[in-house]
Amino acid sequence: MIPWKQLASAPIPGAPAGDASALTLWQRGAEFSIRIGPMTLMTSREHASEEALAARALERCREKRAPHVLIGGLGMGYTLAAALRVLPARAEVVVAELVPAVEEWNRGPLSHLAGHPLRDPRACVHIGDVSALLRGPVGVWDAALLDVDNGPSATIRDANARLYSDSGLLDVHAALRPGGVLAVWSSQSDAGFAKRLRRAGFRDEELRLPTRPGQKAKPHAVWMGLR
Ligand SMILES: C[S@@+](CC[C@H](N)C(=O)[O-])C[C@H]1O[C@@H](n2cnc3c(N)ncnc32)[C@H](O)[C@@H]1O
Repeated sequence: MIPWKQLASAPIPGAPAGDASALTLWQRGAEFSIRIGPMTLMTSREHASEEALAARALERCREKRAPHVLIGGLGMGYTLAAALRVLPARAEVVVAELVPAVEEWNRGPLSHLAGHPLRDPRACVHIGDVSALLRGPVGVWDAALLDVDNGPSATIRDANARLYSDSGLLDVHAALRPGGVLAVWSSQSDAGFAKRLRRAGFRDEELRLPTRPGQKAKPHAVWMGLR
């Protein structure tokens, strides 16, 4: 068995000192993982649900000539690549990524994993907290795809909890154009989150998605919230 080797470590802006204060990048043969402290945030072996997050949400943008899409965060670029595969030539995709080094890793050792999506002229990276963009101008996004954590009840960063709260969801609702869609990835189901989506004014649907094609155990959850 090839051992894991740490390639890099990067501080998480604003994180208190301790185990969860840095992201680390690891490699084992052709496989990569991004970890936070001892916990794996994601690996290059499992990305089917991260891709489905984009494909399923953006089905709803097919009719638009120049959709404006926000993705939070970049990770290994799978959600971004899946979005670019279905979006038209005039689409604009902003990927908000909190940790600057994650962009460097995606332009360097991780670039090939999702097929070099950052080379696509429709994509740009905004370094910063996706929440700040969602609290910005109202009615500007056709879709907001959020995969910044392990889910609404498994946040890797305390400040992210607000994103999934009543007030965070009201921000997202306001930031979307009428008919816009919010899609949220989670490692597990969460009945309370569906209720909060409804309270914020979304029509919601929960999808259970395999972690890998054909895999039945422990599916991931993706919520669609329609404005
Ligand atoms: C699980 S990964 C995303 C995986 C991605 N969907 C993919 O397909 O590769 C989570 C990413 O969100 C970033 N992140 C965490 N909190 C964030 C925030 N508040 N704003 C923007 N990015 C954030 C992390 O640094 C990490 O790169």
